[in-house]
Amino acid sequence: MIEVTKDINRAAFFLNNNEVIGMPTETVYGLAGNIYSEQAVKKIFEVKQRPFYNPLIVHIKSVEYLEKVAVEIPEQAIKLSNHFWPGPLTLLLKKHPTIPNIITAGKETVAIRIPKHPIAQSLLNLLDYPLAAPSANPFGSISPTTAEHVAEYFSEQIPVVLDGGASEKGLESTIIGFVDNQAVLFRHGAISIEEIEEVIGKIAIKTSAKDQPDAPGMLLKHYAPKTPTFVTDDVQSMIKSFSRKKVGLILFKDQLENSERYYSEILSGNGDLQVAGANLYAAMHRLDKQKLDAIIIEKLPNIGIGRSINDRLERARFK
Ligand code: TXA
Ligand code: MG
Repeated sequence: MIEVTKDINRAAFFLNNNEVIGMPTETVYGLAGNIYSEQAVKKIFEVKQRPFYNPLIVHIKSVEYLEKVAVEIPEQAIKLSNHFWPGPLTLLLKKHPTIPNIITAGKETVAIRIPKHPIAQSLLNLLDYPLAAPSANPFGSISPTTAEHVAEYFSEQIPVVLDGGASEKGLESTIIGFVDNQAVLFRHGAISIEEIEEVIGKIAIKTSAKDQPDAPGMLLKHYAPKTPTFVTDDVQSMIKSFSRKKVGLILFKDQLENSERYYSEILSGNGDLQVAGANLYAAMHRLDKQKLDAIIIEKLPNIGIGRSINDRLERARFK
């Protein structure tokens, strides 16, 4: 039975013994293990039921550590890391030869970030190795934003989850790689395109599956509830096609008029996109437990973090 703890030393103890643990970050919870422990890394793939062709993100404690995991760092990467680290930005950089191939799924690049969550930072500071950590959910399902979500997913498979409260951002990190030394955005995430472009100017966007058949982060079906999920600009009209069905709603800021007939969640009463992003996955987890026939989610304005949220909704919806 999994143990939920706030004891960072206890989490470090398990990691030092080649175990895999649940770890809080400001984006979502991770399923963490020592990048140099083959046993731990294999267990991450096994527990998550993740195919071996899908590489892992390496979490480091400080910028000083970067040269131990990556080489030939482009100018724009330095600018971005100076501006956004620690924080929800993942950079795809040319891998250092010592990074095990299982981490990168045989690729020449390695995904790296420095998490901002104080507990993740304290944990990394206790360790003399970086942590590989994909989101702590079974492959394809909704990412966890609380320790309880992790405990529900993996109660028998991992010894401990370190409790750091609800994830502040609630959306995965934004992933940026480099093609001919030019930055390319490969996954929408907790940092918006607008914020990125303020730092390095216009960026190319390649987030569709056809752009990157071997970068699975962006599978068309991902982040999905088990309940059939529909996404729309016009919830009121869509509901009509579900009469006599048990329907759950996830709405941006306004309640529907006849809302008492539905199990509904409001993401942000005052229409704050950051808050909506932070609440989305927890709302999806709650509705997924209500034995509903369908979940209908209202699309958000396609600006700032709204665009990242809409990207997740597109991948979560019933196909
Ligand atoms: O916010 C986050 O990024 C969270 C927290 C725990 O840090 N982690 C996370 O990991 O979302 P994961 O594994 O669920 O998603 C990372 C994505 C994967 O889909 C993987 O395919 C992609 O990053 N990725 C990792 N290394 C890559 C590489 N070298 N080249 C291309 N894509 C890569
Ligand atoms: Mg994931």
